[in-house]
Order: sequence, then structure tokens, then C-alpha cells
Amino acid sequence: MSRIVIAIDGFSSTGKSTIAKQLAKHLNYIYVDTGAMYRAVTYFAMENELIGEGFFHSEKLIERLDEIHITFKFNEALGFAEVYLNNKNIEKPIRTLEVSKYVSPIATISEVRQKLVEQQQLMGKDKGIVMDGRDIGTVVFPDAELKIFMTASAKTRAQRRYKELLERGHNLSYDEVLENVTTRDRIDSTREDSPLVKADDAIEIDNSDLTIEEQIKTLLELAESKA
Ligand code: C5P
Repeated sequence: MSRIVIAIDGFSSTGKSTIAKQLAKHLNYIYVDTGAMYRAVTYFAMENELIGEGFFHSEKLIERLDEIHITFKFNEALGFAEVYLNNKNIEKPIRTLEVSKYVSPIATISEVRQKLVEQQQLMGKDKGIVMDGRDIGTVVFPDAELKIFMTASAKTRAQRRYKELLERGHNLSYDEVLENVTTRDRIDSTREDSPLVKADDAIEIDNSDLTIEEQIKTLLELAESKA
């Protein structure tokens, strides 16, 4: 069977990464979480006081993009690759609600997107990759053999995200999470550069009422039919 590129796009907290990770494992493919890369840039911006409550120095961030080196290292115990910023493991701190709050404005900057898209295309040049994000099927790999567009109701998504954050020990309210999910979706879908849209040839899957096993089964069948 030939190795293909699988692009999984969709709104925030549709469970894309859970599915993409497991799919990659089944197929023995590389999995790349592109959201983690935008979160890494956001983390850099926050650490260097380029974004925060009431300020956003986007021009300064653009000037400093060369200082940002993002890598992934596979963690055997966890079974997936963790993200590193300039050799520092930032897998945990990039998942906070604070980073989630600033990431969509950061992701509107074309220079940031250009840098990350270039790196993503390099990672997928030998195929055998599952990549999830917002613009994978439209911009990063417009020729991907299999494109999936995941959806679920905003409430279902906020519930999932809320549960996940609580389990990780974050102290926040459901309303804060719902507000973050809907705000990010709005910014991501309306930005000028690479807005979140379903590619014409993407297959839409609403997973509000689907188990993880059901989704994996469907995706494995689809992947087999394309390989
Ligand atoms: O996937 P995740 O929710 O971690 O992504 C965080 C944010 O990164 C998204 O809300 C979006 O603003 C941005 N993003 C993007 N393009 C991608 C992946 C993520 O703009 N390919």
C-alpha cells in the first residue's frame, strides 16, 4: 500500500488531534499537530511580552521570528511527539486557556503562517503523515490524498474541552471555555490569510454522536481506499 498524506481540518476542540494521533499510530505514520506550532509562537510572544492583556506588538514579533525554532520529539511513554520551543519542552504550558486566548490573533499574521507552513510542508514531503489544523487541506497540502473536515456542535466541543482542562487541573468555568471556543472559531474562519474553510474535496464528519472507535474505523477505511 502506498503512503499518503492525510489532512484533518476543523473547528476548535472537535477532537481532531485525538483521532489524528490514533490514526497515525494504526497506519505507522507521523502525526503533526500544527495547532501546537501556532501555540508555540504564542508562548514565545507571551514570554517576551509581545502579547498580553490590552497589547499586541505584532511588528516586533515579526522581526523576531528567526529566534523561534519549533521541533517535535517522540515521547515513548506518552506515545506521541511533544513540542519543543528552542529545545525546551513546552507541551504542557501551551495548553492553558491563556495561550488559547492569544493564539488566534497570532495566527492571523501572514509572516507567522508562512514560516510554519514551510516547515509543515517539509515534514510531509515524504508522505506517510497525518496532519491536523485549520488550513492543511486548503493551503499546506492542497493535493493531499485524503482530506477530512471535522465538525461537532459548539456545545459538544466546549464540553469536551472543559472536561479535558479540568482533568489537567486547570481551574476555570464552562462559560469561559465556551467563550474561548466560539471566539477562536470566529477569528479563524474570518481572517484574511488562510481562513478555516472546508476544502471542496474534503469529507465532512460530524462527530457529535460518534465514538472514537467509530471515527477511527471510518477513517482507516477511507485511508485504505486512497492508498
Ligand atoms: O488545534 P488548536 O486548537 O490547538 O489550534 C490553536 C489555534 O492555532 C487555532 O485556534 C488557530 O487560530 C491556529 N491554527 C491555525 N492553523 C492551523 C492550526 C492552528 O491557524 N493549521
